[in-house]
Formats: sequence, structure tokens, C-alpha cells
Amino acid sequence: MSASTLDPTIPGKLLRMLFHDCFVEGCDASVLIQGNGTERTDPANLSLGGFNVIDSAKRLLEVVCPATVSCSDILVLAARDAVTLTGGPSVPVAMGRRDGLVSLASNVRANIIDTGFSVDAMARSFTAKGLTLDDLVTLSGGHTIGSAHCTTFGDRFRVDANGSTVPADAAMNAEYAGELIRACSAVNDTVSSSATVDCDEGSASRFDNAYFVNLLDGRGLLRTDAVLVQNATTRATVAAFARSEESFFASWAASFARLTSLGVKTAADGEVRRSCSRVND
Ligand code: HEM
Repeated sequence: MSASTLDPTIPGKLLRMLFHDCFVEGCDASVLIQGNGTERTDPANLSLGGFNVIDSAKRLLEVVCPATVSCSDILVLAARDAVTLTGGPSVPVAMGRRDGLVSLASNVRANIIDTGFSVDAMARSFTAKGLTLDDLVTLSGGHTIGSAHCTTFGDRFRVDANGSTVPADAAMNAEYAGELIRACSAVNDTVSSSATVDCDEGSASRFDNAYFVNLLDGRGLLRTDAVLVQNATTRATVAAFARSEESFFASWAASFARLTSLGVKTAADGEVRRSCSRVND
């Protein structure tokens, strides 16, 4: 039985972990390293999960085929399969990545996009890695599965003169805003810090194009999701994906291939780790 069958939150966790790996030091499993001051210890990575799935796959591989499959390849395959298992496209990915030797928390903030970023700021971050605005919209579609803590979108609400919590963004669907406020009980209240909400209301366990339909309806959860319909260029792509799941899936295949090619290590730049949570001795 697969880890995703036992725990339906696993696919989202694995896909997000891949994004956080590839954007910092390239797709080299640097995000998996444990220890003081590693990427995992940065606040942006504290809510990552699913590490045990990668560790278990590695342990098994070391028995049947030692020192051959890198942790970075395992993570790419796991994320690829997380998409397929939840109903998304099955896409080809290249193999042969080597695992990185460096994992520094200080590299995370400069590379991982914050939910306060504008479309232009996100575009700059993507362009710096050789990715396009279309890649940004397509890969944001990763939010078609999984969930987010109330704390990651609490700043989308404010308290008005009557003491009521209201959306700060008039474009947020009012019904949706009410649902979020209820789900988080009291936004900005520490009580809600562990509460989570589905990123893609109504179909968060299915990898489909509903995320884009929701964005057009003012039902984007994170600020960075919502702003994709406030920029003319990105809005056109969102609308195209909302109309056609097929075009989202085709674009996903191409963007996922580019994401998983970022900063790939070869030869002596890397190694095949024996255990995914630490570099070899
Ligand atoms: C473009 C900028 C992005 C921002 C600002 C962003 C931010 C976030 C945040 C704040 C969460 C919630 C984390 C939590 O509270 O636990 C989240 C969840 C998630 N993100 Fe992103 N993300 C971005 C892009 C991506 C990309 C490119 C992918 C993958 C291709 C991705 C995949 C996911 C997934 C699958 C989840 C759900 C995780 C879970 O269920 O545990 N995100 N993202």
C-alpha cells in the first residue's frame, strides 16, 4: 500500500518539497539534509512534510540497488507520481541527478517566493532561474492539491471599525472569505496557527484545473494565487487553463520538466547519498 493511500496529505507535501528543493541550490535534495543551519531549519521550510516517504524509498533502494539512485531523483519521481496518483498527467522526467553537498538555511529566503510577492516580483524570481511567466502560472497550479496553514493567508484579512474580520482585498469572493474566516476560527489569532485550509476549495485531493476556475471566481487562497488574475498576462493564462484542463496538463508536462532540471548537479559537484538526511561521510 502506498504512503499516499495511508495518508492523503502526502502527495501535496511531496510536490511542495520538490519546489522548495529545486528553487534552492537546484534539484539536489539539499532540502532533505538534517542538522543545525540546514535549509530545513529555515522558517519557510518548517511546514514541509513527507520526509519519511523519501527516506523509506531510499532505504529500500539501498538494499536492492545500492549507491545508484540519488535522493534528488527519488524526490522528483515521488513528486511526479504524487501528481499522477491524484489524477494529474503522467509526465516523463529525466534521471541522473546527483545529491548536493551544501544545505544552508541562509540560501532559502533569497530563493523561495514569499506570499507577499507581486506578480512582477514572482516573475523576477522565475526569470532568474530561466523560467517564464507561463511557468509561474502553470506551476502555481501545483496548488490544485494540498493545504495551507491559516497563518499563511491571515494577512489577507483585517479588522474593520465594527471589530469584524473582513477581507483586505475587495476582489476576494465574499462567500469564500466567510468560509475562510470560519475555518480559521479567528484569523490572526494564535488559536488558528495550526489550522489548515485546502488550497483548491472543493477538489484539493484531485490534481485538476479547478484551481484556475476558483482563481477567476475570487477563490484564490494565498495572496500570490489571487494576484495571478490581477495581471493581464497571467490572467489570460489562468483563463486558458480554466477553460481547458488539457492545456493545463500539456503545459504542466513542459514546466515540470524545466522545474526538475534546475541546477542539476553532475559528476564531482555531487554524490549519491547513502542516507537522504545527511551527506556521505
Ligand atoms: C509561486 C510561488 C509560491 C508560493 C508563494 C507558495 C506558497 C505556499 C504556501 C505558503 C503554502 C502553504 C504551506 C503551509 O502552510 O503548510 C504552499 C503549499 C503548497 N505549495 Fe506552494 N507556493 C508557490 C509555488 C508552488 C509551486 C511552484 C509548487 C509546485 C509545483 C507548489 C506546491 C505546493 C503544494 C503542493 C502545497 C500544499 C502542501 C501541503 O499540502 O502540505 N507551490 N505554497
